[in-house]
Amino acid sequence: MTDVNQFRKTRYDIDPIYIKRWSPRSFSNQKVSEEVLSSVFEAARWAPSAANVQPWRFVFASSEQDKEIFLSFIDEGNVVWCKNAPVLIAVISKMEEERFGGNNPAHAFDTGTAWGFLSLEAARKGLITHAMGGFNKEKAKEALSIPDGYQVHAIVALGYQGEKSSLEEAYQKREVPSPRNEVETFVSEGVFRENM
Ligand SMILES: Cc1cc2nc3c(=O)[nH]c(=O)nc-3n(C[C@H](O)[C@H](O)[C@H](O)COP(=O)(O)O)c2cc1C
Repeated sequence: MTDVNQFRKTRYDIDPIYIKRWSPRSFSNQKVSEEVLSSVFEAARWAPSAANVQPWRFVFASSEQDKEIFLSFIDEGNVVWCKNAPVLIAVISKMEEERFGGNNPAHAFDTGTAWGFLSLEAARKGLITHAMGGFNKEKAKEALSIPDGYQVHAIVALGYQGEKSSLEEAYQKREVPSPRNEVETFVSEGVFRENM
């Protein structure tokens, strides 16, 4: 397991889980139990959402057969490493809602929160997650039988961290927790600051 504290320093007091969560690409072949997987989805369940409509949907693959289907629409540059993940999860949102009279303007915002909760619970359980936007959305909708009115946002690889040496060399170099911009660069008081 990588010691994230070597790479990530916080300036203000936060729970360590926020920096513990990062996106490695090396997965071990350790399976994820049904119970642990259920806990990860349970965390997503408790995300807040506009009017509490809970627009998030998840489709996961853990059998070799289902994973093959996911790999068929994921970009090659991601397949090379995510094929070793024991679980692949499609993050989907329901775009329409009767109580909004059609489009739910918060479907993507709320589904992003749910995936955030999921990834933090996964980190708490000693798992790693890695989200991917690099996949063919049309193919994904078809392959997973996702109806119109739903949007696929990301595919998330989930599992236990493996050895860096299992990755191709180019990916080994990138296998380090990334830094972040300082708080002042994205927060301003009163009005929006142009140079934020
Ligand atoms: C919506 C989304 C799409 C992403 N797409 C990819 C991707 O296609 N391939 C990849 O290797 N990483 C992808 N990432 C991972 C990001 O590059 C990573 O989260 C970011 O660099 C921050 O690093 P950290 O998650 O390790 O803190 C994606 C992340 C998100 C949230």
